[in-house]
Amino acid sequence: MSRIVHEGRSLECRFDETVLEALLRQGVDAPYSCRAGVCHACLCRGEDVSALNPESFRGLSAEQRADGWFLTCQAKPVEDLHLRDAAGLRKCRVLSNRQVAPDVFILRLEGKDFTYRPGQFLLLHCQGLSRPYSIASHPAEGYLEFHIRKLEGGALSPLLCALRTGDSVDISEAAGSCHYGSPHATSDLVLAATGTGLAPLMGVLKDAIKKEHPGWIFLFHGGRVKSDLYLDDEIRVLMKKHPRLLYRPALTRDSLPGYASGRLTELIPPLLKTPQQCSAFLCGHPDFVRELRLKLFLAGLPSARILADAFSHTKGAT
Ligand SMILES: Cc1cc2nc3c(=O)[nH]c(=O)nc-3n(C[C@H](O)[C@H](O)[C@H](O)COP(=O)(O)OP(=O)(O)OC[C@H]3O[C@@H](n4cnc5c(N)ncnc54)[C@H](O)[C@@H]3O)c2cc1C
Ligand code: FES
Repeated sequence: MSRIVHEGRSLECRFDETVLEALLRQGVDAPYSCRAGVCHACLCRGEDVSALNPESFRGLSAEQRADGWFLTCQAKPVEDLHLRDAAGLRKCRVLSNRQVAPDVFILRLEGKDFTYRPGQFLLLHCQGLSRPYSIASHPAEGYLEFHIRKLEGGALSPLLCALRTGDSVDISEAAGSCHYGSPHATSDLVLAATGTGLAPLMGVLKDAIKKEHPGWIFLFHGGRVKSDLYLDDEIRVLMKKHPRLLYRPALTRDSLPGYASGRLTELIPPLLKTPQQCSAFLCGHPDFVRELRLKLFLAGLPSARILADAFSHTKGAT
C-alpha cells in the first residue's frame, strides 16, 4: 500500500488500485470519463511522478511528463504520491457563447494572464463534470476561445453549450503538445481537422501567422454538409490577408463549387508534393486522426513531425 497526499489529506492507495479508484473510494470528487486512458479527463499533476507505471503517461508528451502530469485512471503508485491538481483550477467568467452551426457553439471566457500555447487543451469543469477542450484563441486576443460540439445525450457538452454571458466555469492549466514551435518553423504546415478539431488548428494557425511562418500553410477542414464548416467565411477572409495560407474545405455529403468532395483522408495525401518537408497537425475524430497519420507517414512525412490531438472518448463514458 502507498499513500496519496491530496489537499492536505493523506489517503491510502491499496495494492493494484489506481489513483482515481483510491480518490473516489475515499470521497474525493475527482474528474474522470473513460477510465481507459484515452479521454484525458482525469489529467492531474504530482510532485514527483518518475516512479509511476508507464501507462500513467499514455498519450502525454515528454514535456507534460516532466511537468508532473499523469492520468489518475491509469496510475498505480508503488511509492507515496503528492498531488497538486486542485491548485491549478481557476474560475473564469463567460464573455459570450455563440451558436455557429446546428451543433457547434463558440464559447469565450475571460483569459487575461492565463499561460498557454495556442492549440493546447485544458479541462473545462462545470457542475461537477470535466472534459478536455482545445484552445482556439491566441494569448494576444486576451480571451480564451473553445469550439464545443453539442453531443446529444452527452453529459458535459450540452451544459457548456447552454452557458450564458456572466456564468462561470473552472479551468485547469493548459496541457498538450499540439502547438506551433521551432521544429515546424521552416516546414510547410498541413493543418487538417474534422468537426470541432478545427479549434486547436485555429490556435496553431494564429500563432504561425503571428510568427510570420515562412512556408505554406495548408488548412483542410472536413465536414458532411456545408454548415459543418462553421468558420468557412472567417477563414476565407483570413486567406485574403495571408497569401501563404491555402484553405481547402471538403464535404462528404454535399457537392458544391469551391468545396472538394470526399474524405480528407483520401484527398490530402495525393495533394502533398513534398511530404518530407511538411509538418502536420491532425485533430478531431480518433479514427480520422489515426488513418490520416498513417497515410501521411507512408507518404513520407516523418512521424516526429506529425502532431495530433484525437478527441478521444469511450463508449458508455459517464
Ligand atoms: C485532447 C482533447 C481535446 C478535445 N477538444 C475538444 C474540442 O475542442 N471541442 C469538442 O467539441 N470536443 C473536444 N474533445 C472531446 C470532449 O472532451 C468530450 O469528449 C466531448 O465534448 C463529449 O463530452 P460529453 O460529456 O458531452 O459526452 P460524454 O458524456 O462523455 O459521452 C456521451 C456518449 O457519447 C459518446 N461520445 C463522446 N464524445 C463523442 C464524440 N466526439 N463523437 C461521438 N460520440 C461521442 C461517448 O462514447 C458516450 O457514449 C476533446 C477531447 C480530447 C481528448
Ligand atoms: S478518465 Fe483517465 S483518461 Fe479518461
